[in-house]
Amino acid sequence: MNAVVLEKTGDPISGFVLSNSVPIPSPSPSQLLLKVKSCALNPVDYKMAQYNVLINDPLPLPLGCDVCGEIIQIGSDSSEESFKVGDLVFGYTGLGTIGYGTFAEFCVIEKSLAMKTSNGALTHPQLSSVGVGLETAALGLFQSLSLTISDEPKENLPKILIWGASSSVGMFAVQLASICGYPVIAVCSESNFDFMKSLGATYTVSYRDSNAAVNEIRSLPGGPPLHAYSTISSDASNLCAKSVSGENSIVAACAGGITESVDGVESKDVFLGMIPKNEDQTKYLSTLIPTFNRWFDNGKLKPGKILLMNGLQSIFEGLSTLSQGKVSGEKIVISLEP
Ligand SMILES: NC(=O)c1ccc[n+]([C@@H]2O[C@H](COP(=O)([O-])OP(=O)(O)OC[C@H]3O[C@@H](n4cnc5c(N)ncnc54)[C@H](OP(=O)(O)O)[C@@H]3O)[C@@H](O)[C@H]2O)c1
Repeated sequence: MNAVVLEKTGDPISGFVLSNSVPIPSPSPSQLLLKVKSCALNPVDYKMAQYNVLINDPLPLPLGCDVCGEIIQIGSDSSEESFKVGDLVFGYTGLGTIGYGTFAEFCVIEKSLAMKTSNGALTHPQLSSVGVGLETAALGLFQSLSLTISDEPKENLPKILIWGASSSVGMFAVQLASICGYPVIAVCSESNFDFMKSLGATYTVSYRDSNAAVNEIRSLPGGPPLHAYSTISSDASNLCAKSVSGENSIVAACAGGITESVDGVESKDVFLGMIPKNEDQTKYLSTLIPTFNRWFDNGKLKPGKILLMNGLQSIFEGLSTLSQGKVSGEKIVISLEP
């Protein structure tokens, strides 16, 4: 099959090449084989290439970990009967392991992590943009911060701060916390304020002046937020720590935790990349999948904005754009089919 493979590490882009001789993966009993319709790009893709991290199998290896594809073959474990050949599924596959690479015409995904929706209004490019962002957001909110998942939210839940709210992880965190009834303070550029409101954020704060942002957050009605999710950097996590109430507060962080400790504030790292290797974490995430499916079906949960490119060849341009930090409030998606 054709695939964009990583041949060598040390640079974010130059180690990737287009190959026409990659074997089609065969699904294990717990997996589905997919014909890739679209895949999405994530910062981890070029970071793996640049820093030689999270690569479990020998190079050359197709990378990419977000997909929407059609089921071609179902692994022999028959305990999971909710899929049939021809179904469209989507989600995060896994990192740096033979078969999981989504920059390819075919890939595999664990059955327990494959999402599926009856919402026909959503296109395959939109669905491919969901997995990593949504699942990282969910691990941070529901596991690290212990927010309660609910279709019928309680009143008077504490405010939650999302720093980096217009990032791919952040914009799903805004949606998930809002769906569950938590008032959200979204920190992003002013140009994304309306977008954040459309996703359910109660308050929007600009990060341009970080001290002003902390003061603004701490003086919102009802006092400072209880917990925060930092999706950008350790600097952002430190600002989160200064912004929360400090009464048994937690800052969950997926891109660098707190480095300057603050009394009453605990730092918890979020790491999707250990899934599906880590069985307990995989089991935990799989319990959330039916809820995600239902929220896509009934329109509560929506994919974010996408920047669409066509064909495997466009992955090089996409990774270059992403690695230069030129993406704001949208996800780069590569469509392999009309
Ligand atoms: N640990 C894990 O399991 C895991 C999983 C997924 C991602 N990550 C990491 O999480 C980070 C975010 O990933 P992503 O895919 O969500 O990123 P992304 O969508 O590419 O992030 C782009 C966004 O970052 C925002 N941003 C940049 N600097 C900011 C700052 N100082 N304060 C607030 N917002 C800022 C920009 O917001 P504006 O345009 O509004 O300025 C832009 O919308 C990356 O470092 C990624 O590697 C980790």
